[in-house]
This record gives sequence, C-alpha cells and structure tokens, in this order.
Amino acid sequence: MQIVEVDGHDPVAYERFFRIRDDVRRAEQEFPVGLGLEETRMLFTADRPDERSNGLAVVNGDTWLGMAWLDWWLLENTHVLDVEIAVDPRFRRQGVATRLLDEVEARARADGRTLLTGSVIAEAETGTSSGTAFATAHGFVQKHTELHQVIDLPMDDAVVDALERKVPGYELLQWRDQTPPEWLAEFADAYTAMSRDVPHGDREVEIQVWTPERLVAREARRVEQGRFTHTTVAVDADGRLAAYTQMGGNRAVPERLYQYDTFVRPEHRGRGLGIAVKIPNLRSLQAELDRPAVLHTWNAPENAPMIAVNERLGFRAVDHRVAFELALS
Ligand SMILES: CC(C)(COP(=O)(O)OP(=O)(O)OC[C@H]1O[C@@H](n2cnc3c(N)ncnc32)[C@H](O)[C@@H]1OP(=O)(O)O)[C@@H](O)C(=O)NCCC(=O)NCCS
Repeated sequence: MQIVEVDGHDPVAYERFFRIRDDVRRAEQEFPVGLGLEETRMLFTADRPDERSNGLAVVNGDTWLGMAWLDWWLLENTHVLDVEIAVDPRFRRQGVATRLLDEVEARARADGRTLLTGSVIAEAETGTSSGTAFATAHGFVQKHTELHQVIDLPMDDAVVDALERKVPGYELLQWRDQTPPEWLAEFADAYTAMSRDVPHGDREVEIQVWTPERLVAREARRVEQGRFTHTTVAVDADGRLAAYTQMGGNRAVPERLYQYDTFVRPEHRGRGLGIAVKIPNLRSLQAELDRPAVLHTWNAPENAPMIAVNERLGFRAVDHRVAFELALS
C-alpha cells in the first residue's frame, strides 16, 4: 500500500480517484450528491485565488483503495485544512482511511495549519455512520449538523403557486449565471453578510469577505465548470438588495440540483421574503428542466422556519451532514 498524489492534469488517474468518492456516495446515499468528474478535476487544475484543492489516494499495485480530498483556504481560514476521505467498501477496516488521515495531518502541520475540518454523512434516524465512527475514533469533535432534504422535480405547479407571495415594497429581479454589473457591489456585500450570519454551530470559521472582483471570478469559474445558477433577489424601495436565493447544478449531472444560499438581511426579516424569492426561483429552475431531477437542500436544525417551508413544499428528510473538527496540537 502506498499513498500517491493525484494529478488533475492526468485524466486517467483523476478518474480513478474521483470514482472512489462517487461510488461510495452512490452506494451509501439514497440521494447521492456531489459535483461531476470534469468540474471537480478543474478544481485541481485551476488557479484560484481563494482556495486550492488537491487529492491523495492509497493504492496497492493497480488497485485503488481510498481517497482523500483536501481543500486549502487561501484568503480566510488559512489555519484550516478541510478534508474528505472515502474508502472502497471492499477495503474497509484495514486502516486505509487512517493512513490517509495521518498523511493529511502531516501536510496540514507542515503548512502551519492548526485545524482539520470535515463533513460526513449520517443516517437520518440514528445520526451515525461509518464516517461519524471514524471521525470520533480519531478524536474529531462534532460541531454542527444540517438536515438534508430532497424533493423530486418537476413539482406540481399548484403546490408552488399556493406558496407564492408578494411582499409589498419590494421588487423581484432574476438573473442567470452571472450577476449583472450594476448589482455586483450589492450582491458581494450580501454574500459577505450571509457568510457572517449563516449558523455555524460552534465551528471556528472566519467570515468570507466578498468583493465584486471575487464574485466575478467565482461566477466565471462556475460557468467554465459547466455549472448553471438561477438567482432571484428582492430589492427594497431604496434600491438595496434585501434578500436573495440561488439554485443550480451542472449540465454534466443534470439530475442533481441544489438549493444554494437563501439570505434575508436582518433588517428585512419577518416579512416572508425568504419564500417570496424562493418560489419564483424554483419556477425559473423548473421551467428549464428537460428530465426528472432531485433538488437538494441543507439546513441547520436552528433554521426551523426554512425546514418547515421546505416541508410545506413537499421536501423530505433523507440524512444529516455532520461537521467535525480536529485541533492539531
Ligand atoms: C469512514 C471511512 C473513510 C473509514 O475508512 P476505513 O479505511 O474503513 O477506516 P479505518 O480502517 O482507518 O478505521 C479506523 C478506525 O475508525 C473506526 N471505524 C471506521 N469505520 C467504522 C465503522 N463502520 N464502525 C465503527 N467504527 C469504525 C474504528 O475505530 C476503526 O478502527 P478499528 O478498525 O481498529 O476498529 C469509510 O468507512 C468510508 O469511506 N465511509 C463513507 C465515506 C465517509 O463517511 N467518509 C467520512 C470521512 S471524511
């Protein structure tokens, strides 16, 4: 058994690495999620100012047993290394993941990182899984949990229509993949506010400060990756962006769609703006479906109102995403 570095410029090696993770997800999740082969490979090869990703694999001759995906934050959270490990079910409980974790820890330390973070999937009923057992066995501390809900699309229009609501004093605007130039400053500011406000449990995370340039770069990269985004925003009478929601996916994996952020600025809360932006955005997403798909969303349990709205729309709970942290001493 040896550990190899996975080169994103080598499509054959990258695909073997990618397949371990994707096969594990497909086998273990009723509703698997995750980006496609090419869009993730681009994350290894692209020069990104805010984040760097690389991968390790444990191989034995021509057999690939397990993989680790590493995300290195470069602007904020530079003390953190985020890791995801997956091991082919045929080679479990043989120390493969432990071997990978040891290597990841060594690399994190060598780079001056003091915190390892990671998310694992846990069963809806028990809140446990091989991932939670492994993380706990290695001293990781559970920091935060999100409920994963799904719904089959297309939804019945009548259900969507019944939840539609207009909030007086706000105008709705919609756009696709790239924010119109006149909204970049407002939208970057809303992204920063969202990063500050989203429930983090007791995780140690620094807020992300978004500038128009950073937003433009991120959106351009997403388009390059084949991703598409539907955005609906609510604008108040002073022309300020009060709320937004984003949904999307990737053309390479069209059956997996995602609810990304929904954010209402604190001073605009309590007026139903969350639903007011969500419903038209859902309609926009649905209007372009050319096949059945599953829309995925994750919410912290403290975000009960959002979970309740999703239930009213017909979303059902499938599993949990549990965030773990390990302080490196
Ligand atoms: C979690 C996972 C990576 C573990 O891989 P692995 O190679 O089997 O892990 P190891 O053999 O190194 O296990 C080390 C220790 O973790 C604990 N552990 C691992 N899997 C466990 C399980 N299913 N049940 C209970 N304990 C478990 C045990 O203490 C184990 O030591 P032991 O075998 O001597 O009892 C693998 O089960 C997996 O791919 N799961 C799905 C993906 C996932 O959840 N990844 C999360 C990590 S970010």
